[in-house]
Amino acid sequence: MIKKLLIGSIIASGAIYAASVSACVGCHGASFEKKALGVSKVVKDMSKEDIIKALKGYKAGTYGGAQKGLMKGQVASLSDKDIEDIANMIKSGAKASPAAKAPAKKEGVKELSNDGQYKAPDLKKPVDATELGLRKASLDDSKVAPPEVKFDAPAPGSAQRIERSYVNAPPLIPHSVDGLLPITIKRNACLGCHMPDKAKAVGATPIPPSHFMDYRPNTKIAKDGAIEKNGKIIKNTSDVKVVQKKLKKLYAGRYNCSQCHVPQANVKPLVKNNFKPDFTDKKLKEKSNLVDVIDQGVK
Ligand code: HEC
Ligand code: HEC
Ligand code: HEC
Repeated sequence: MIKKLLIGSIIASGAIYAASVSACVGCHGASFEKKALGVSKVVKDMSKEDIIKALKGYKAGTYGGAQKGLMKGQVASLSDKDIEDIANMIKSGAKASPAAKAPAKKEGVKELSNDGQYKAPDLKKPVDATELGLRKASLDDSKVAPPEVKFDAPAPGSAQRIERSYVNAPPLIPHSVDGLLPITIKRNACLGCHMPDKAKAVGATPIPPSHFMDYRPNTKIAKDGAIEKNGKIIKNTSDVKVVQKKLKKLYAGRYNCSQCHVPQANVKPLVKNNFKPDFTDKKLKEKSNLVDVIDQGVK
């Protein structure tokens, strides 16, 4: 299982998106109507033959401008047939996903808002059944529809980063994830922009060093039933030391990005969040330093 995950992430980091354009839309727009990263041609206006020529050329290393290395990663695993299918898809005008609006991008990070509307109940009165749950509705599930939630964040590259919820919290995804989810074993479009070797060209935050570490100690049960971690018998919890094993590849447990990083919708929180993060260093509002402080507080 773990082996498979690793292989999945290796393949995906080279970008394998057999005959699908969903991985392209973040840069090229839903109907290839944008100049990707401000430099490419508007692909929907190219002829089918030129699109095929360009994609085959990127694959062979014989076509392209300053950013051709980036496109090579995107097409490396496409067959000639896939390329032909994609060119047809683009020229037929099929939309991969609704185009996200891209308002003018603001500088800096956005503050998290905590404008919940929770009102404490009057404890002297009997509580109505509709007041018991946070959703303030009948407890009969069949009568309750989840609220309509619109995820309408701007496309990657035009979103404003959001302040961290607390020091070393996983940052929230500020941009649209249209066409990017779900992450599957064969397809992880996040890697195409966030792997450290790709992030700079796209203006994305690189995946941090912590995601390339294995923190799990090598654990064994010794003959007498004692627990051994990284070759050391553990008698007290204080015997457990954090060991960061550096990997050449993304750690498999980090492959499913959206397990920890989540997109944002504009909804009213049901309960006001009174938590106020304490940033010892202002820089930590927009950046993590986990690997440097991993054993802070551990004696
Ligand atoms: C991470 C952003 C990104 C993604 C994802 C991406 N592209 Fe590109 N694309 C670019 C950039 C940048 C260029 C211009 C590269 C250069 O030649 O310098 C480009 C160029 C192209 C061109 C040639 C246009 C020209 O200027 O000559 C085509 C065709 C194309 N891409 C199709 C695709 C397809 C199909 C996909 C998905 C399989 C895709 N791209 C995914 C960024 C991206
Ligand atoms: C087309 C390139 C692209 C793709 C694909 C992409 N991102 Fe991003 N991501 C960016 C850029 C660029 C930013 C910086 C904000 C902006 O400009 O929109 C960003 C910002 C983020 C941030 C906030 C980082 C911070 O420092 O606050 C997170 C978290 C994130 N992305 C996660 C993801 C995940 C998870 C996926 C896959 C579901 C993904 N991204 C897919 C380009 C991309
Ligand atoms: C198990 C939870 C988890 C998973 C899975 C995960 N992350 Fe993270 N991520 C975190 C946490 C926690 C942080 C902040 C602390 C740190 O740097 O490790 C973080 C930080 C980041 C940052 C900010 C780096 C910086 O310099 O500030 C980016 C970008 C990021 N992750 C991208 C990704 C992408 C892309 C994936 C999928 C390949 C992913 N993460 C998978 C938990 C996770």
